[in-house]
Amino acid sequence: MKYSIFTLGSVAIMASTVSSLPVVKKQDIDLVVLQFALTLEHLENVFYKKALARFSEIEFLAAGHSFEYYNNLKYIAHDEEAHVKLLTAGITAAGGTPVEACTYNFPMTNVQSFISLSSMLEGVGTSAYLGGAPLITSKDYLTIAGSILVTEALHTSMQRQALHRVPAANPYGTPLTPTPVYSLAATFIESCPSGNMALGFRAYPSFTTVSSMPAYAGRAIQFSAVSVPPASFFVTFVNGLNVTSVAPERTSGKNVWAVPPVGFGGQTYALITTTNMTGGSFSDSGLLYGPAVVDLIPGSPTFDRSYQK
Ligand SMILES: *[C@@H]1O[C@H](CO)[C@@H](O)[C@H](O)[C@H]1NC(C)=O
Ligand SMILES: *[C@@H]1O[C@H](CO)[C@@H](O)[C@H](O)[C@H]1NC(C)=O
Repeated sequence: MKYSIFTLGSVAIMASTVSSLPVVKKQDIDLVVLQFALTLEHLENVFYKKALARFSEIEFLAAGHSFEYYNNLKYIAHDEEAHVKLLTAGITAAGGTPVEACTYNFPMTNVQSFISLSSMLEGVGTSAYLGGAPLITSKDYLTIAGSILVTEALHTSMQRQALHRVPAANPYGTPLTPTPVYSLAATFIESCPSGNMALGFRAYPSFTTVSSMPAYAGRAIQFSAVSVPPASFFVTFVNGLNVTSVAPERTSGKNVWAVPPVGFGGQTYALITTTNMTGGSFSDSGLLYGPAVVDLIPGSPTFDRSYQK
């Protein structure tokens, strides 16, 4: 392993961590996780490059954003590029062939739709690293994944602020397993190079919000599934460390109305599932459609002011 591979960013830690990789079979799992992470980082990297090529600083200013905000977007683009370089180098060092960027289609028509999409993607990225963490067998890789997760969450916070949404709308981040993450990512992917390692994740049929976001917990949200769902199902909401499955309030063909639980706040994933996952953790095995990405206005902040010392 060559030290020079890791001089691309502020990643001196990688040189020592990757060289101390245990050469064991379970590394194969880690390699798939790294390739999956790289798949997402490529998507984000290209997304910001496309956005910054498409929308000028003048357009951001005209849309009411500051010079400072625009400058921070350039830092985000820089970060995503660094993540791609780090993971590419790490996969190479671990003996893999890093997946390459795909061709993407991002629905962004103006500055505002770019920021909404950015907030959503960064939230999904954060959820992906959190949900992927238990799959990682190497503690060194876990530190790296955690380090990237922090940065994705900072990006999310900045974009939520720009949307006038509460940046920290939940005391807890929301973990999401690779299958729903991949299903969301796949909606932006047109095609990938044939040489890319097959990651074995299946993209589930789409489930999208019809109601505008953000929405209120406790009030029905309208969703649309890509096809008519079976007669009986649950809508499972995943937010922070809570997973709650509810019966749909009503359905009409592909349209589904369901009420997110009171107390949920911030970016929340809604999925059609065959099983009631309430109180447990989300399981891919019950997944039928989704996820849809919902954003819920959190309740008023409450805290005990009595602490005095
Ligand atoms: C799902 O399970 C929880 C916990 O067992 C239960 O309270 C809830 O009523 C169930 N939901 C539905 C829609 O059946
Ligand atoms: C979420 O889970 C936590 C911890 O189990 C619990 O205290 C809280 O009441 C739950 N919130 C909701 C909205 O279900």
